[in-house]
Amino acid sequence: MGTEAEANGGKKQLKFVIYGRTGWIGGLLGKVCDEEGIEYEYGRGRLENRLSLEADIKAMKPSHVLNAAGVTGRPNVDWCESHKVETIRTNVVGTLTLADVCRERALILINFATGCIFEYDSSHTLGSGFGFKEHDTPNFTGSFYSKTKAMVEDLLANYENVCTLRVRMPISSDLSNPRNFITKITRYDKVVDIPNSMSVLDELLPISVEMAKRNLTGIWNFTNPGVVSHNEILEMYKEYVDPSFSWNNFTVEEQAKVIVAPRSNNELDASKLNKEFPQLLSIKDSLLKYVFQANNNNP
Ligand SMILES: NC(=O)c1ccc[n+]([C@@H]2O[C@H](COP(=O)([O-])OP(=O)(O)OC[C@H]3O[C@@H](n4cnc5c(N)ncnc54)[C@H](OP(=O)(O)O)[C@@H]3O)[C@@H](O)[C@H]2O)c1
Repeated sequence: MGTEAEANGGKKQLKFVIYGRTGWIGGLLGKVCDEEGIEYEYGRGRLENRLSLEADIKAMKPSHVLNAAGVTGRPNVDWCESHKVETIRTNVVGTLTLADVCRERALILINFATGCIFEYDSSHTLGSGFGFKEHDTPNFTGSFYSKTKAMVEDLLANYENVCTLRVRMPISSDLSNPRNFITKITRYDKVVDIPNSMSVLDELLPISVEMAKRNLTGIWNFTNPGVVSHNEILEMYKEYVDPSFSWNNFTVEEQAKVIVAPRSNNELDASKLNKEFPQLLSIKDSLLKYVFQANNNNP
């Protein structure tokens, strides 16, 4: 599609409007833009309020819109099971409204979505190294959160201005942040031990900014290549951060008793992203470089 940037011969000044100012990923995106000297403003509108989004875009005149707004539930996605309309309002109605407003103005929307819409199955077995690809149909609808995210992804695929980034179990070098997957699993009483695709934000968020600059659209598995298990991460945590750390495992069946909705476990095939960004590190190398070497208390 012809974007506004292209309409100006690619000369239009890069400027992002970012939704999710108070959120974890939205906050980190602002920092990436600060570091890279990219002009940006945080959107003030609420996603489900079309007029408020139109007012933002009219006033802020972005070249691209980045959406890191969404309801994820507090303390976790189980919240969505008992707040279905609120979940639909933001994650379905809101996200679609933002995509539609951007399309009307020929603006690319970089949408931070989720890869928690798949689970290992007989054609993508655990440990096979055969991950779900971008065109695969989501097969995990065990939680209301995932179910609605899968529905929205399917609808958004019709919007040629949208770049869908399937984030999974996001990790950052800030181990004090309770949203960080590593921080979460170090604080649980018991953890399952299942290999999964994950997203190291310190490496991937600058890549998302580069994707905007390249005007990339479509669906992207937005994870580091390969998988890592809970125990592998906790072993690294013990080695680099806290030698006195210990943990207890439990089974998925035992986990089911302490959560409301099932959680997805899967491997996503990151080869499309890796082809576009050949320097992308495998999940274990990215964890080492961006998280554990940066937090090494045991040099
Ligand atoms: N963290 C994860 O584990 C994870 C994993 C995969 C994908 N994702 C996806 O990535 C996105 C960002 O995640 P996050 O972890 O940064 O979430 P977060 O910390 O919970 O932040 C969510 C942000 O969305 C904003 N928001 C919520 N409803 C809104 C609405 N109706 N209109 C405008 N803004 C609204 C919140 O602002 P207010 O406080 O003002 O409501 C907040 O700034 C979400 O869509 C999430 O589903 C997250």
